[in-house]
Order: sequence, then structure tokens, then C-alpha cells
Amino acid sequence: MSHPLRLSADQSGITEAARLLRDGALVALPTETVYGLGADARNDRAVARIFEAKGRPSFNPLIVHVPDVEAARTYVHWTQTADLLASAFWPGALTLVLPLRADSGIAPLVSAGLSTVAVRVPAHPLAQKLLREFGGPIAAPSANRSGQISPTTPDHVAQGLGARVAAILDGGPCPVGVESSIVDATGTASLLRPGGIPAEALEQALGHPLGMRDGADAISAPGQLRSHYAPSATVRLNATDWREGEATLGFGKVAADLNLSPSGDLTEAAANLFGHLHTLDASGRPIAVAPIPMHGLGAAINDRLSRAAAPRD
Ligand code: TXA
Ligand code: MG
Repeated sequence: MSHPLRLSADQSGITEAARLLRDGALVALPTETVYGLGADARNDRAVARIFEAKGRPSFNPLIVHVPDVEAARTYVHWTQTADLLASAFWPGALTLVLPLRADSGIAPLVSAGLSTVAVRVPAHPLAQKLLREFGGPIAAPSANRSGQISPTTPDHVAQGLGARVAAILDGGPCPVGVESSIVDATGTASLLRPGGIPAEALEQALGHPLGMRDGADAISAPGQLRSHYAPSATVRLNATDWREGEATLGFGKVAADLNLSPSGDLTEAAANLFGHLHTLDASGRPIAVAPIPMHGLGAAINDRLSRAAAPRD
């Protein structure tokens, strides 16, 4: 298998990444959450390549990455909810779903025909530099094959996508480690996917509780497909003991092959989650995971783990 080009985290790497995006190529870029598989969001052909590279069902809409609120407002109709949340958490691990402007110029494939689109202002300095150098919106799902573990290092991207991606902008490991929280901000705010910003923090900024969406809702969000983020091995959750032959993932003061956070810190656990799953999966053994508390980033961690453990088709 041929390997994607590795671009360095300096001006020459950023210039080359922007040039490739203008050419309609796919570039993997670091964000504070996970690596994104980026394409020019205005270019139908380029966006189609994302679906092809991921092997993703085409009804799953993508997130549009922009450098700031001003840029976001050129593509969506802004709301009061969006204003509250963006001023508290952008740039950062929050995605807002908002009504798409008729004149947005965003390729229809990005929103999969919906009248809304997901937008995010990433905080990662390299993502910010690339967005400004490129000068346009970047559509980017997580840079993994559909249904597989999300990538938090350039090596994960190269292993998962190989030559399906033209280049990887090397930003080292992603600091947050779980994907952004997704909020439908068309109305009073409902949580579509728990993620890098804890629900408690979102509610504090809003001044009221979030509505919750369940998988039965009309909007199909792939994060909501039951088996998602799945390693090849089976996954057993809330394990309070280890069984013979298991590859074990601990949390807190638990002896295990790998530990998400020996000190029980949920932020550290989120940052380690996908990397540790990648490593344990490579052992070929079934994976067992210790219980993780549900508060703060624990909600996003447990969400990803329960999808990793869900029965496969
Ligand atoms: O942290 C992240 O969000 C990463 C980085 C790369 O930014 N991206 C990411 O993208 O996780 P992806 O494609 O793996 O997940 C995007 C989620 C999906 O669950 C999708 O259904 C949802 O966003 N989504 C996108 N547009 C939507 C819309 N108009 N309405 C509802 N959900 C939407
Ligand atoms: Mg994903």
C-alpha cells in the first residue's frame, strides 16, 4: 500500500495542504478533538471523495469547519442559541447545527440534502492556520473508515485510510481525543451527540437544560448508528474483573494492560480513549473496559464505548 504524504507543521506544510485542498484533493488535518478528513466544502467532487475514502453511507452529513463566527455566519442563519454557545465555546470542541443559507455555496452533498448544516470553529492552531491559508470552508468528518475507531494521531490516519488520503498535516496527538459535542441550535438547543464540551458546561452557558435527542429521531446522525467507532475485536463494558485472554483497559486504580487515566481524570481518559483502543485492538484479543463515571467528559467516553461494544451486522 502506498502511503499518504506527511506534511510538516510549518508554513511549507500549511501552504502545500492549502494547495492540495484547492486542487480538490483530500487532506487529513489535526483538530483539538480528532483528525479530520478535509476537503473544500464548496467542491462537489472533492466532497464526494470523502464519502468514497470513508466508505460512508452518503446520507450522513458532514461538519463544515470555518476560522471564526464571522465566516460561519456567511453559510448559516444565526440564532440566539448559536450566539450564546459560540461566545462561550468557540473556537473549540462544539459543533452547531443551523439553517443553511440558500446562497451558501456549500456543496449539497455536505448537508446530505438537509436544510440544516453543521458548523464548527476548531481551536487547534494548525487547523486555524490551514483554514486561513485556504480561505474557504473545509468539510471534514473524522479521518477514519466508516464505523472504525476515530484517529487521534497521524499514524492512525495512515493506517486506516492509506493512499485514500493525499496528505496528512502532522500535528502530533490530538489533545481532547473525543469528537465535538453537537448541538442543534436552530431552536432552544438540543444535544445531538455528547462530545468534548460536557453537557453541564453547555447548560451553564445556556442558562437552561438541553433537550436530548434519541436515535429514533428523524435526523440521522451517523454518530447515532448503534455500532460505530468499532474495533475489530469484541468489547465488554463495565468490567469489574478481567477474564482469561482479554486485552484490558482500566480507569483509575485498576491493574490493566492499558489505563485511560490511573488518577481517574476524565479529561486525560478522553485524550487516551481512541489511541488505547487502537493499541488493544492490534493485539487481536477481545477487549474489556473498566467502568467510567458518567459525569463531565464521561458521557462522551461512555457513548463512544457503548457504540464500540454494540452488536455488529
Ligand atoms: O470533532 C469533530 O466533530 C470531528 C472533527 C474532525 O471536527 N468531526 C466529526 O465528524 O466527528 P463526523 O462526520 O465523524 O461526525 C459528524 C456528525 C455526524 O454524526 C453527523 O450526522 C452530524 O455531525 N451532522 C452533520 N450535519 C448534521 C445536520 N445537519 N443535522 C444533524 N446532524 C448533523
Ligand atoms: Mg466519525
